[in-house]
Amino acid sequence: MNPIYEKLMKCYECFQQKIHFTPQVALILGSGLGDYARDIQVEAELDYRDIDGFPVSTVPGHQGKYIFGYVGNVPVVCMQGRVHYYEGYEISDVVLPIRLMKLMGAQVLFLTNASGGLNTNFHAGDFMMITDQIANFVPSPLIGPNIEELGVRFPDMSHIYDQALQQILRNTARQLAIPLQEGVYIQLTGPNYESPAEVRMCQRLGGDAVGMSTACEAIAANHMGMQICGISCISNMGCGITDKPLTHQEVQETADRVAPLFKKLVTQCIINIGDSLD
Ligand code: HPA
Repeated sequence: MNPIYEKLMKCYECFQQKIHFTPQVALILGSGLGDYARDIQVEAELDYRDIDGFPVSTVPGHQGKYIFGYVGNVPVVCMQGRVHYYEGYEISDVVLPIRLMKLMGAQVLFLTNASGGLNTNFHAGDFMMITDQIANFVPSPLIGPNIEELGVRFPDMSHIYDQALQQILRNTARQLAIPLQEGVYIQLTGPNYESPAEVRMCQRLGGDAVGMSTACEAIAANHMGMQICGISCISNMGCGITDKPLTHQEVQETADRVAPLFKKLVTQCIINIGDSLD
């Protein structure tokens, strides 16, 4: 068996032994949604370190977990803490948690993150619905022998972000009177932030926001046939657009400041997505 698939199946068997819950929607909690679990009717939790073979961070305090519960009536699995490529994992390990959520039963993947704004019409604290992405600065998670059990060798990427879900997100933001920008997310490896010249490059390539996650996850999920949507919290403008040096603290502070609104938007989006699945 393909070793990547074998590892995934081991994690899945471990999940099956420990958790009896079938999610419809998988949600990745980026910066700003870290404590979203408080808004969920939690049914069960599973620490990443309790899943045999799961890629867990060696950095103290960086442990993560899956949270299973309900947002409204919608059964969800949330990832509190994601795996980043810059931590040193193989790209196949970075997307293993996403693949596992599909195996758990989730058909919809809701991605969230914090990112740097490239589009000069954006401001720190804005939300941007991801309409498309540029992932070429990180290896494709599909490199290597194709895992036929998961998807086809050459998957189409015309509509990575599902058009019907995008319309639900737009309508939901309007319903709540929360401004929602739209644009292309570009993933770089990190962990360093971009230089001003790199920010200009990303702008010229067609990016509206830049970050260190998400796009590779969306590729793996699309390969498996999931319906995907995503919202990025623009935590800062890209380096060089403003003169101020960028710190992780600034990113975190902005994300924390807009967190209540971000949570409200995500919650109502999930409820509306749930209605559309019934
Ligand atoms: N660049 C890359 N990743 C980020 C940024 C940024 O400016 N802000 C938050 N995540």
